[in-house]
Amino acid sequence: MELNRDYILQKVEQYPTPFYLYRMDLLTATLDACKNAADKYNYKVHYALKANSDSHVLSTISSYGFGADCVSGQEILTAIENGFSPNHTAFAGVGKTDEEINIGLDTEIFTFNCESIQEIEVINELAEKKGKIARIALRINPNVNANTHKYITTGLEENKFGINRWEFETILKTLEQCQNIKLTGLHFHIGSQIVDLSAYRSLCLRVNEIQQWFIEHRILLEHINVGGGLGIDYYQPDLNPIVDFEGFFAIFNDFLELQPHQELHFELGRALVGTMGELITKVLYIKNGQRTNFAIVDAGMTELIRPALYQAYHKIENISKSTHNADEFYDVVGPICESSDCFGKRVKLPQTERGDIVAIRCAGAYGQVMANQYNLRKIPEVVYYEG
Ligand code: LLP
Repeated sequence: MELNRDYILQKVEQYPTPFYLYRMDLLTATLDACKNAADKYNYKVHYALKANSDSHVLSTISSYGFGADCVSGQEILTAIENGFSPNHTAFAGVGKTDEEINIGLDTEIFTFNCESIQEIEVINELAEKKGKIARIALRINPNVNANTHKYITTGLEENKFGINRWEFETILKTLEQCQNIKLTGLHFHIGSQIVDLSAYRSLCLRVNEIQQWFIEHRILLEHINVGGGLGIDYYQPDLNPIVDFEGFFAIFNDFLELQPHQELHFELGRALVGTMGELITKVLYIKNGQRTNFAIVDAGMTELIRPALYQAYHKIENISKSTHNADEFYDVVGPICESSDCFGKRVKLPQTERGDIVAIRCAGAYGQVMANQYNLRKIPEVVYYEG
Protein backbone atom coordinates (compact mmCIF):
# COMPACT_ATOMS: atom_id res chain seq x y z
CA MET A 1 0.00 0.00 0.00
CA GLU A 2 2.57 2.53 -1.16
CA LEU A 3 1.97 6.22 -1.85
CA ASN A 4 0.20 6.75 -5.12
CA ARG A 5 2.55 9.30 -6.65
CA ASP A 6 0.54 9.88 -9.82
CA TYR A 7 -2.56 10.62 -7.80
CA ILE A 8 -0.72 13.20 -5.72
CA LEU A 9 0.83 14.86 -8.75
CA GLN A 10 -2.62 15.08 -10.28
CA LYS A 11 -4.13 16.59 -7.09
CA VAL A 12 -1.40 19.19 -6.94
CA GLU A 13 -2.83 20.55 -10.20
CA GLN A 14 -6.24 21.01 -8.54
CA TYR A 15 -5.40 22.16 -4.99
CA PRO A 16 -3.00 24.76 -3.70
CA THR A 17 -0.12 23.36 -1.67
CA PRO A 18 0.51 22.70 1.15
CA PHE A 19 -2.34 20.29 1.84
CA TYR A 20 -2.91 17.16 3.86
CA LEU A 21 -3.63 13.98 1.96
CA TYR A 22 -5.50 11.29 3.89
CA ARG A 23 -5.39 7.79 2.45
CA MET A 24 -8.78 6.45 3.44
CA ASP A 25 -7.95 2.97 2.11
CA LEU A 26 -5.07 2.76 4.58
CA LEU A 27 -7.26 4.14 7.36
CA THR A 28 -9.92 1.46 6.83
CA ALA A 29 -7.29 -1.30 6.56
CA THR A 30 -5.85 -0.07 9.89
CA LEU A 31 -9.28 0.06 11.51
CA ASP A 32 -10.05 -3.47 10.27
CA ALA A 33 -6.79 -4.76 11.74
CA CYS A 34 -7.38 -3.03 15.08
CA LYS A 35 -10.98 -4.11 15.36
CA ASN A 36 -10.26 -7.75 14.51
CA ALA A 37 -7.43 -7.90 17.05
CA ALA A 38 -9.47 -6.18 19.80
CA ASP A 39 -12.53 -8.34 19.16
CA LYS A 40 -10.43 -11.43 19.65
CA TYR A 41 -9.95 -10.47 23.31
CA ASN A 42 -13.22 -8.61 23.67
CA TYR A 43 -11.33 -5.36 24.34
CA LYS A 44 -12.98 -1.98 23.70
CA VAL A 45 -11.11 0.69 21.77
CA HIS A 46 -11.82 4.39 22.11
CA TYR A 47 -10.38 6.65 19.44
CA ALA A 48 -8.46 9.64 20.85
CA LEU A 49 -9.96 12.52 18.85
CA LYS A 50 -7.07 14.80 19.64
CA ALA A 51 -4.90 12.95 17.12
CA ASN A 52 -7.08 13.90 14.17
CA SER A 53 -10.57 15.36 14.34
CA ASP A 54 -11.31 15.69 10.64
CA SER A 55 -14.98 14.85 10.21
CA HIS A 56 -14.56 12.37 7.32
CA VAL A 57 -11.93 10.56 9.39
CA LEU A 58 -14.16 10.65 12.48
CA SER A 59 -17.25 9.31 10.76
CA THR A 60 -15.18 6.52 9.21
CA ILE A 61 -13.82 5.53 12.63
CA SER A 62 -17.20 5.76 14.37
CA SER A 63 -18.73 3.52 11.69
CA TYR A 64 -16.52 0.72 13.06
CA GLY A 65 -18.17 1.01 16.46
CA PHE A 66 -15.14 2.44 18.26
CA GLY A 67 -15.77 4.66 21.28
CA ALA A 68 -14.39 8.20 21.66
CA ASP A 69 -11.74 9.58 23.98
CA CYS A 70 -12.23 13.34 24.30
CA VAL A 71 -10.26 16.06 26.04
CA SER A 72 -12.58 19.02 25.68
CA GLY A 73 -16.27 19.83 25.57
CA GLN A 74 -15.92 20.63 21.89
CA GLU A 75 -14.40 17.20 21.24
CA ILE A 76 -17.38 15.56 22.99
CA LEU A 77 -19.82 17.47 20.77
CA THR A 78 -17.77 16.78 17.64
CA ALA A 79 -17.53 13.07 18.46
CA ILE A 80 -21.30 12.81 18.88
CA GLU A 81 -21.95 14.84 15.70
CA ASN A 82 -19.76 12.39 13.82
CA GLY A 83 -21.51 9.26 14.93
CA PHE A 84 -19.78 8.25 18.18
CA SER A 85 -22.16 7.15 20.90
CA PRO A 86 -22.15 9.12 24.19
CA ASN A 87 -22.37 5.71 25.91
CA HIS A 88 -18.89 5.02 24.59
CA THR A 89 -17.40 8.44 25.15
CA ALA A 90 -14.83 9.19 27.83
CA PHE A 91 -13.77 12.68 28.87
CA ALA A 92 -10.19 13.09 30.10
CA GLY A 93 -8.02 16.10 30.93
CA VAL A 94 -6.48 17.78 33.98
CA GLY A 95 -8.33 21.04 33.45
CA LYS A 96 -12.00 20.46 32.65
CA THR A 97 -14.00 23.70 32.88
CA ASP A 98 -17.48 23.80 34.47
CA GLU A 99 -18.94 24.43 31.03
CA GLU A 100 -17.21 21.33 29.64
CA ILE A 101 -18.30 19.18 32.58
CA ASN A 102 -21.86 20.33 31.95
CA ILE A 103 -21.55 19.24 28.30
CA GLY A 104 -20.48 15.80 29.54
CA LEU A 105 -23.40 15.68 31.98
CA ASP A 106 -25.96 16.87 29.44
CA THR A 107 -24.84 14.38 26.80
CA GLU A 108 -24.63 11.62 29.45
CA ILE A 109 -21.20 10.37 28.48
CA PHE A 110 -19.87 7.01 29.59
CA THR A 111 -17.28 8.40 31.99
CA PHE A 112 -15.29 11.37 33.23
CA ASN A 113 -11.67 10.36 33.75
CA CYS A 114 -10.90 12.40 36.88
CA GLU A 115 -7.47 13.70 37.63
CA SER A 116 -7.79 15.36 41.06
CA ILE A 117 -9.83 15.37 44.24
CA GLN A 118 -11.07 18.88 43.62
CA GLU A 119 -12.27 17.91 40.14
CA ILE A 120 -14.38 15.08 41.62
CA GLU A 121 -15.97 17.56 44.04
CA VAL A 122 -16.79 19.99 41.24
CA ILE A 123 -18.31 17.25 39.03
CA ASN A 124 -20.39 16.12 42.01
CA GLU A 125 -21.66 19.65 42.62
CA LEU A 126 -22.57 20.21 38.96
CA ALA A 127 -24.22 16.77 38.69
CA GLU A 128 -26.24 17.48 41.83
CA LYS A 129 -27.57 20.72 40.30
CA LYS A 130 -28.80 18.72 37.30
CA GLY A 131 -30.09 15.84 39.41
CA LYS A 132 -27.76 13.43 37.62
CA ILE A 133 -25.24 10.79 38.63
CA ALA A 134 -21.87 11.18 36.91
CA ARG A 135 -19.90 8.02 36.17
CA ILE A 136 -16.23 8.56 36.81
CA ALA A 137 -12.96 6.69 36.46
CA LEU A 138 -9.93 7.69 38.50
CA ARG A 139 -6.97 8.55 36.37
CA ILE A 140 -4.08 7.06 38.28
CA ASN A 141 -0.52 8.15 37.80
CA PRO A 142 1.19 4.74 37.63
CA ASN A 143 4.75 6.11 37.75
CA VAL A 144 5.81 3.96 34.79
CA ASN A 145 8.37 5.28 32.33
CA ALA A 146 7.23 5.07 28.70
CA ASN A 147 10.74 5.76 27.33
CA THR A 148 9.49 8.32 24.86
CA HIS A 149 10.07 12.05 24.32
CA LYS A 150 9.79 13.95 27.61
CA TYR A 151 7.04 16.22 26.27
CA ILE A 152 4.80 13.21 25.54
CA THR A 153 5.56 11.23 28.70
CA THR A 154 2.60 11.39 31.04
CA GLY A 155 2.79 8.57 33.57
CA LEU A 156 5.59 9.74 35.88
CA GLU A 157 5.09 11.32 39.28
CA GLU A 158 6.76 14.49 38.04
CA ASN A 159 4.04 14.87 35.37
CA LYS A 160 0.89 16.85 36.06
CA PHE A 161 -1.43 13.97 35.16
CA GLY A 162 -3.48 11.71 37.38
CA ILE A 163 -3.93 10.87 41.02
CA ASN A 164 -1.00 9.51 43.00
CA ARG A 165 -0.92 6.43 45.18
CA TRP A 166 -0.69 8.43 48.44
CA GLU A 167 -4.00 10.16 47.68
CA PHE A 168 -6.11 6.97 47.51
CA GLU A 169 -7.39 7.09 51.13
CA THR A 170 -8.47 10.72 50.76
CA ILE A 171 -10.17 9.88 47.46
CA LEU A 172 -12.29 7.22 49.14
CA LYS A 173 -13.37 9.70 51.82
CA THR A 174 -14.23 12.24 49.12
CA LEU A 175 -16.24 9.66 47.20
CA GLU A 176 -18.25 8.77 50.31
CA GLN A 177 -19.39 12.37 50.47
CA CYS A 178 -20.15 12.70 46.78
CA GLN A 179 -23.66 11.36 46.34
CA ASN A 180 -23.85 12.30 42.65
CA ILE A 181 -20.75 10.39 41.62
CA LYS A 182 -20.44 6.73 40.74
CA LEU A 183 -16.93 5.35 40.56
CA THR A 184 -16.89 2.81 37.74
CA GLY A 185 -13.30 2.41 36.65
CA LEU A 186 -9.62 3.20 36.70
CA HIS A 187 -7.77 5.00 33.95
CA PHE A 188 -4.05 5.04 33.06
CA HIS A 189 -2.06 6.58 30.23
CA ILE A 190 1.74 6.53 30.26
CA GLY A 191 2.66 8.50 27.16
CA SER A 192 2.65 8.62 23.40
CA GLN A 193 4.68 7.17 20.48
CA ILE A 194 5.71 4.22 22.63
CA VAL A 195 7.75 1.73 20.63
CA ASP A 196 9.41 -0.10 23.50
CA LEU A 197 6.42 -2.29 24.30
CA SER A 198 7.99 -3.53 27.55
CA ALA A 199 6.62 -0.28 29.05
CA TYR A 200 3.13 -1.76 28.64
CA ARG A 201 4.14 -4.90 30.47
CA SER A 202 5.35 -2.71 33.37
CA LEU A 203 2.04 -0.85 33.20
CA CYS A 204 0.09 -4.14 33.43
CA LEU A 205 2.03 -5.20 36.52
CA ARG A 206 1.39 -1.81 38.13
CA VAL A 207 -2.32 -1.96 37.27
CA ASN A 208 -2.54 -5.40 38.92
CA GLU A 209 -0.95 -3.99 42.08
CA ILE A 210 -3.27 -0.98 42.15
CA GLN A 211 -6.35 -3.11 41.45
CA GLN A 212 -5.42 -5.20 44.47
CA TRP A 213 -5.72 -2.13 46.67
CA PHE A 214 -9.24 -1.47 45.39
CA ILE A 215 -10.22 -5.12 45.80
CA GLU A 216 -9.01 -5.03 49.40
CA HIS A 217 -11.16 -1.96 49.93
CA ARG A 218 -14.12 -3.83 48.42
CA ILE A 219 -14.53 -1.48 45.50
CA LEU A 220 -15.88 -3.07 42.37
CA LEU A 221 -14.64 -1.59 39.15
CA GLU A 222 -16.49 -2.22 35.91
CA HIS A 223 -13.68 -1.20 33.64
CA ILE A 224 -9.97 -0.59 33.42
CA ASN A 225 -8.75 1.86 30.80
CA VAL A 226 -5.07 1.55 29.97
CA GLY A 227 -4.93 4.60 27.67
CA GLY A 228 -3.14 4.76 24.37
CA GLY A 229 0.33 5.65 23.17
CA LEU A 230 1.05 2.78 20.81
CA GLY A 231 3.75 4.08 18.45
CA ILE A 232 4.02 3.82 14.67
CA ASP A 233 7.02 3.25 12.39
CA TYR A 234 7.93 6.75 11.21
CA TYR A 235 11.07 5.39 9.58
CA GLN A 236 9.61 2.70 7.32
CA PRO A 237 5.97 3.59 6.71
CA ASP A 238 5.76 1.52 3.52
CA LEU A 239 7.15 -1.58 5.21
CA ASN A 240 4.97 -1.19 8.31
CA PRO A 241 1.93 0.87 7.37
CA ILE A 242 -0.19 -0.85 10.03
CA VAL A 243 1.02 -1.48 13.57
CA ASP A 244 0.94 -4.92 15.12
CA PHE A 245 -2.30 -4.55 17.09
CA GLU A 246 -2.42 -8.27 17.71
CA GLY A 247 0.98 -8.24 19.47
CA PHE A 248 0.01 -5.11 21.43
CA PHE A 249 -3.25 -6.54 22.79
CA ALA A 250 -1.56 -9.87 23.53
CA ILE A 251 0.65 -8.11 26.13
CA PHE A 252 -2.46 -7.13 28.10
CA ASN A 253 -3.97 -10.57 27.68
CA ASP A 254 -0.77 -12.09 29.06
CA PHE A 255 -0.01 -9.71 31.92
CA LEU A 256 -3.12 -7.84 33.03
CA GLU A 257 -5.31 -9.56 35.59
CA LEU A 258 -8.86 -8.55 34.83
CA GLN A 259 -11.57 -9.29 37.36
CA PRO A 260 -14.60 -11.32 36.22
CA HIS A 261 -16.93 -9.17 34.06
CA GLN A 262 -14.44 -6.33 34.01
CA GLU A 263 -13.96 -4.63 30.62
CA LEU A 264 -10.59 -3.52 29.31
CA HIS A 265 -10.55 -0.24 27.39
CA PHE A 266 -7.89 1.42 25.23
CA GLU A 267 -7.57 4.95 23.87
CA LEU A 268 -5.64 4.84 20.63
CA GLY A 269 -4.92 7.89 18.52
CA ARG A 270 -1.72 7.79 16.52
CA ALA A 271 -1.76 4.05 15.86
CA LEU A 272 -5.10 4.44 14.03
CA VAL A 273 -4.47 7.57 11.97
CA GLY A 274 -0.72 8.29 11.95
CA THR A 275 0.45 6.54 8.81
CA MET A 276 -2.53 7.38 6.60
CA GLY A 277 -1.70 11.10 6.38
CA GLU A 278 0.86 12.94 4.29
CA LEU A 279 1.65 16.60 4.19
CA ILE A 280 2.08 17.52 0.52
CA THR A 281 4.21 20.55 -0.14
CA LYS A 282 6.00 22.20 -3.05
CA VAL A 283 9.65 23.22 -3.25
CA LEU A 284 9.85 26.99 -3.55
CA TYR A 285 13.60 27.46 -3.73
CA ILE A 286 16.87 25.64 -3.56
CA LYS A 287 19.53 27.55 -1.76
CA ASN A 288 23.12 26.43 -1.57
CA GLY A 289 24.46 27.16 1.88
CA GLN A 290 28.07 26.98 2.95
CA ARG A 291 27.67 23.69 4.77
CA THR A 292 24.46 22.35 3.37
CA ASN A 293 21.88 22.85 0.66
CA PHE A 294 18.45 24.01 1.69
CA ALA A 295 15.23 22.91 0.03
CA ILE A 296 12.76 25.59 1.04
CA VAL A 297 9.21 24.25 0.84
CA ASP A 298 5.85 26.01 1.09
CA ALA A 299 4.78 24.12 4.25
CA GLY A 300 6.19 25.09 7.59
CA MET A 301 5.98 24.40 11.31
CA THR A 302 2.58 26.08 11.12
CA GLU A 303 1.21 23.09 9.18
CA LEU A 304 3.20 20.36 10.96
CA ILE A 305 4.79 21.35 14.25
CA ARG A 306 6.05 17.95 15.39
CA PRO A 307 9.65 18.26 14.11
CA ALA A 308 10.03 21.74 15.67
CA LEU A 309 8.36 20.80 18.95
CA TYR A 310 9.65 17.29 19.63
CA GLN A 311 12.54 16.98 17.16
CA ALA A 312 10.27 14.32 15.63
CA TYR A 313 11.42 12.40 12.58
CA HIS A 314 9.16 12.32 9.52
CA LYS A 315 10.27 10.58 6.35
CA ILE A 316 10.53 13.05 3.48
CA GLU A 317 10.22 12.07 -0.17
CA ASN A 318 10.50 13.99 -3.40
CA ILE A 319 7.66 12.49 -5.34
CA SER A 320 8.38 14.33 -8.56
CA LYS A 321 11.61 12.39 -8.98
CA SER A 322 12.50 8.71 -8.88
CA THR A 323 13.72 7.63 -5.44
CA HIS A 324 16.37 5.39 -7.02
CA ASN A 325 18.88 8.14 -7.46
CA ALA A 326 18.55 9.84 -4.07
CA ASP A 327 22.13 10.91 -3.59
CA GLU A 328 22.00 14.56 -2.55
CA PHE A 329 21.54 15.96 0.93
CA TYR A 330 19.22 18.83 1.80
CA ASP A 331 17.97 20.52 4.92
CA VAL A 332 14.24 20.66 4.20
CA VAL A 333 12.93 23.86 5.74
CA GLY A 334 9.77 25.94 5.75
CA PRO A 335 9.12 29.65 5.23
CA ILE A 336 8.45 30.61 8.89
CA CYS A 337 10.68 33.08 10.68
CA GLU A 338 12.05 30.57 13.18
CA SER A 339 15.17 28.44 12.90
CA SER A 340 13.29 25.46 14.29
CA ASP A 341 11.10 25.56 11.17
CA CYS A 342 12.92 22.58 9.74
CA PHE A 343 11.35 19.27 8.69
CA GLY A 344 14.61 17.37 8.44
CA LYS A 345 18.35 17.91 8.35
CA ARG A 346 20.62 16.20 5.80
CA VAL A 347 17.69 14.48 4.14
CA LYS A 348 18.82 12.23 1.30
CA LEU A 349 16.85 13.15 -1.82
CA PRO A 350 17.30 12.97 -5.58
CA GLN A 351 18.48 16.22 -7.09
CA THR A 352 15.63 18.55 -6.19
CA GLU A 353 14.47 21.70 -7.91
CA ARG A 354 11.94 24.48 -7.65
CA GLY A 355 8.44 23.16 -8.28
CA ASP A 356 9.11 19.57 -7.13
CA ILE A 357 6.46 18.02 -4.91
CA VAL A 358 7.54 16.68 -1.55
CA ALA A 359 5.58 14.33 0.73
CA ILE A 360 6.16 14.50 4.48
CA ARG A 361 5.05 11.10 5.60
CA CYS A 362 3.10 9.82 8.63
CA ALA A 363 1.45 13.14 9.30
CA GLY A 364 -2.05 11.83 9.98
CA ALA A 365 -1.76 12.11 13.77
CA TYR A 366 -1.08 15.43 15.52
CA GLY A 367 -0.58 17.10 12.15
CA GLN A 368 -3.47 19.21 10.94
CA VAL A 369 -4.98 19.37 14.45
CA MET A 370 -1.88 21.16 15.71
CA ALA A 371 -1.69 23.55 12.74
CA ASN A 372 -1.80 27.23 13.64
CA GLN A 373 -1.94 30.59 11.95
CA TYR A 374 1.38 32.03 13.04
CA ASN A 375 2.59 34.48 10.39
CA LEU A 376 -1.10 34.71 9.42
CA ARG A 377 -0.93 31.50 7.45
CA LYS A 378 -3.94 29.46 6.39
CA ILE A 379 -4.91 26.16 8.02
CA PRO A 380 -4.19 23.58 5.29
CA GLU A 381 -6.98 21.83 3.42
CA VAL A 382 -7.44 18.05 3.35
CA VAL A 383 -7.66 15.91 0.22
CA TYR A 384 -8.95 12.35 0.56
CA TYR A 385 -7.63 9.42 -1.43
CA GLU A 386 -10.31 6.74 -1.32
CA GLY A 387 -8.19 4.05 -2.98
N1 LLP B 1 -5.27 9.03 26.14
C1 LLP B 1 -4.78 10.10 26.78
C2 LLP B 1 -5.20 10.38 28.15
C3 LLP B 1 -3.85 10.92 26.13
O1 LLP B 1 -3.36 11.97 26.76
C4 LLP B 1 -3.46 10.63 24.79
C5 LLP B 1 -2.51 11.49 24.08
C6 LLP B 1 -4.02 9.51 24.16
C7 LLP B 1 -4.92 8.73 24.88
C8 LLP B 1 -3.69 9.12 22.75
O2 LLP B 1 -2.34 8.85 22.61
P1 LLP B 1 -1.78 8.20 21.24
O3 LLP B 1 -2.38 6.81 21.13
O4 LLP B 1 -2.19 9.06 20.12
O5 LLP B 1 -0.31 8.19 21.45
N2 LLP B 1 1.23 15.91 20.07
C9 LLP B 1 2.06 14.79 20.44
C10 LLP B 1 1.31 13.68 21.10
C11 LLP B 1 0.55 14.12 22.33
C12 LLP B 1 -0.25 13.00 22.93
C13 LLP B 1 -1.15 13.51 24.01
N3 LLP B 1 -1.96 12.51 24.61
C14 LLP B 1 2.81 14.30 19.21
O6 LLP B 1 2.66 14.91 18.15
O7 LLP B 1 3.58 13.37 19.28
